[in-house]
Amino acid sequence: MSHTGVTTRMKKTIGITLSGAASALILVGGLTAAPARAGSMAEWTHPSAAVLAAGKKLAFNRKKGNCLACHQIDDGTDPGNVGPPLVHVKKRYPDFAKLRAQIWDATANHPNSVMPPFGRNRILTNKEIDEIAAYIWTQ
Ligand code: HEC
Repeated sequence: MSHTGVTTRMKKTIGITLSGAASALILVGGLTAAPARAGSMAEWTHPSAAVLAAGKKLAFNRKKGNCLACHQIDDGTDPGNVGPPLVHVKKRYPDFAKLRAQIWDATANHPNSVMPPFGRNRILTNKEIDEIAAYIWTQ
C-alpha cells in the first residue's frame, strides 16, 4: 500500500521535472530560433562561388540589403558613409556568428544603431542574411 503511494509520488515528481525541462528547452529554442541558420555552418564560412555571388547581389540590391546606402563595400558604386567601410571584416569578426548577429539585429550590439535590424524586422530572410554575411566575411 505505502509502496504504491511512493511510486505514485515519484512518478509525479518525474513528470513535473520533465515538463520543467521541456519548457526550459522550448524557452532556449525560442531564444535561439530566430537567428538560426538556414543551412550548415560550413556552407556560409566556406561559401561556394554561387553563394558569394548571391550574397553580393543581395547586399548591393537597393530593394534588398541596400548595404551600400551606408557602407563602402568592395567595388560597389556610390556608397554612403553612415556606417564604417566594410573592409578587413574577417579580422574584425573572427567569429562568423557575431558578424551574422550584427546584420540580423545591429541594435543588439548598438542599441541606438540606425542600421536596420534586417533579421528581427524580417526585411531579409535567414537564408538571405546567411548569404550576405558569407559574402561580407570575404571582405
Ligand atoms: C541606414 C544605414 C545602414 C544600412 C542600410 C546598413 N548599415 Fe551596417 N552599419 C551602420 C552603422 C551606423 C554601423 C555602425 C555600428 C552600428 O551602429 O551598429 C554599421 C555597422 C555594420 C557592421 C559592423 C562594422 C564594424 O566594423 O564593426 C557590419 C558588418 C554591417 N554594418 C553590415 C551591414 C550590411 C551587411 C548591411 C546590408 C545588409 C548593412 N550593414 C546596412 C549603418 C547601416
